[in-house]
Amino acid sequence: MSKLRIPHIASSEITPETVWLSRRKWLQQAGLGAAALGAGTLLPAWAMADSRATLPSQPNPQYWLSNKLTPEKDVSSYNNFYEFGTGKTDPVNYAGSLQTRPWTVSIEGEVARPRSFDIDDLLKLAPMEERIYRLRCVEAWSMVIPWSGYALATLLKQVEPTSKAKYVEFVTTVQPKAMPALNDQILDWPYVEALRIDEAMHPLTMLVFGVYGKLLPNQNGAPMRVAIPWKYGFKSGKSIVKIRLLEKMPLTSWVKAAPREYGFYANVNPNVPHPRWSQATERRIGDGIFSPRADTLMFNGYGDQVASLYTGMDLRENY
Ligand code: MTE
Repeated sequence: MSKLRIPHIASSEITPETVWLSRRKWLQQAGLGAAALGAGTLLPAWAMADSRATLPSQPNPQYWLSNKLTPEKDVSSYNNFYEFGTGKTDPVNYAGSLQTRPWTVSIEGEVARPRSFDIDDLLKLAPMEERIYRLRCVEAWSMVIPWSGYALATLLKQVEPTSKAKYVEFVTTVQPKAMPALNDQILDWPYVEALRIDEAMHPLTMLVFGVYGKLLPNQNGAPMRVAIPWKYGFKSGKSIVKIRLLEKMPLTSWVKAAPREYGFYANVNPNVPHPRWSQATERRIGDGIFSPRADTLMFNGYGDQVASLYTGMDLRENY
């Protein structure tokens, strides 16, 4: 994965950061912000293109953080989605042509009831929750994001994993007409990621359909992605079309491309550097490039919830 590039964002475009006190407060702020812009104001491209439907979701205080939220503009314009290019702004510039309807997600492999779901049925499968998660990219930048969705376990229970299901693989979409970078051979497409079954069933592992109270923008993995907040961001496959339950550990895209640099587990770990850079600190996107870097936390700060999944494992070996 290419090393961090400093984004060229004019300081005038950086939204003042707000602490997310409550959903109502945020909505008020959003309303005020829109009114303050007034008629005739020139909106930036990211805001003009933003006509996505709202996605009502119930805040889940169990997954609430006091950290400042990353401004919505940064969440949706500083992305990794290599099918659209390796530049951070390639996804926002090119993902508009991704076809997200009709969309089915098939679940197969070691399950008693394999089946396909229409995305609009998945949207209704369980109550939509809003959870604020930290996202830590392996490139040593981070964000704090209000995602909407529900636990992946809710969906997996529907298909009844068999006792042989030890791993859960996520296969993402390949759309040659919409994805300009498929020919660049950065990775062997489709982008594939996977988790151990206990990681996949963990309540923190989330199926995500929306962000900031609206359906996901294409560049963030519409219409459905996963979020696994204690792992580096590359584990969170975007625009998923297939979920396979497997007996054996599958070969995931980054492990296949560079096994010395990217491991299957990819738990956020400040003590295990990437071979080409440190993982001890992170740059918080939206804080401005001159802000001090923050210390990266073990398991991205979710250790109390997930450390027990790795009892007895050498986390240097299983990076
Ligand atoms: N999923 C697909 N299909 N293709 C990708 O290139 N990049 C990953 C992950 N999921 C990627 C992907 C990486 S490296 C990160 S850090 C996160 O998506 C970024 O998610 P975000 O752009 O929504 O912040």
